[in-house]
Amino acid sequence: MKILFFDTKNYDRESFTRELAGQPDIEVKFLKTELAPVTARLAQGYDAVCAFVNADISRETIEVLHSCNVKLILLRCAGFNNVDLAAAADCGIRIFRVPGYSPEAVAEHAMALALGVNRHLHKAYVKVRENDFSLSSLMGINFHRKTAGIVGTGKIGAAMARICHGFGMKVIAYDVYQNPELKNFTTYVSLDELLATSDLISLHCPLTDSTYHMISTENIRKMKDGVILVNTSRGALVKTDDLIEGIRAHKFFGVGLDVYEEERPNVFEDRSDEILEHSVTARLLSFLNVMITSHQGFFTREALSAIARTTLENVRTFKHDDSSPNEVK
Ligand code: NAI
Repeated sequence: MKILFFDTKNYDRESFTRELAGQPDIEVKFLKTELAPVTARLAQGYDAVCAFVNADISRETIEVLHSCNVKLILLRCAGFNNVDLAAAADCGIRIFRVPGYSPEAVAEHAMALALGVNRHLHKAYVKVRENDFSLSSLMGINFHRKTAGIVGTGKIGAAMARICHGFGMKVIAYDVYQNPELKNFTTYVSLDELLATSDLISLHCPLTDSTYHMISTENIRKMKDGVILVNTSRGALVKTDDLIEGIRAHKFFGVGLDVYEEERPNVFEDRSDEILEHSVTARLLSFLNVMITSHQGFFTREALSAIARTTLENVRTFKHDDSSPNEVK
């Protein structure tokens, strides 16, 4: 089995090389370049490709992979909104993902963002480094006894619900399905009720047609004044122009974003010597109550090991022509 890895960084190469030890039947090559229509041709001679969250796995890419005789696309991430599933089915290419490598990693990062914007840690860090020990503009709120609204209570949302419960928060949730694991401490409500009553809103549902721009002006208006909004799920759940309008209208106490609509060219790249071309991102960065991180929710040692392990399990499932809940259809 020959697998071509796209868009790899040192940490990917290390975690996969560790997990591949003792598996001589799997031959891999690591590339730094991203998977896209123009790079897909590099997969000639490989059985499978392995790609990450922002790869362009459109019909065009899939058709090139198909012409190279690739039979398997391994996503080393949970989300698959970047894959044209119909095109993959048309070409007979199977898609596997890593659905729950470490929900706690992402949920802990969501809480870190919530705490960060609440207690202004980004400002405090800079102030103290500059010998400014005053507390001006650093006041936060207690999370204890406040209401956390979790949108999407799958693996990550459930982990976030448990964390919020541990903080002594009242936990409410909205999902199209109810998660029985949360029944002892979570009350399911309508999205409107969640928006109207939460002090902290954390988004954990996938990007689909039904969730695209679910946070828009209409829904922002329904939120409590002074709410904290955190998005560690997918950027396009939030309509950024409307979010900016809401921030300018002082709707939010703080906003923590690990994902945002224009992240694609930035994610995991050092662009510190370039001028930022995207005005929307630049505007978001200009607000002192907004903290943005670059899609790092998943990025813990434990999660990287689990991603490599599950990806190689997916290879074995494919080789044995077995079925698996990790397959995306
Ligand atoms: P999951 O599949 O376990 O849970 C998703 C939940 O969203 C399910 O309970 C589902 O019923 C719910 N949902 C679907 N459509 C909905 C709708 N219209 N309204 C409300 N709820 C809806 O997924 P998991 O593992 O919890 O991941 C959630 C998302 O987190 C992923 O789709 C991905 O976009 C994002 N993610 C972000 C990472 C990061 O590094 N920032 C890393 C991994 C995932």
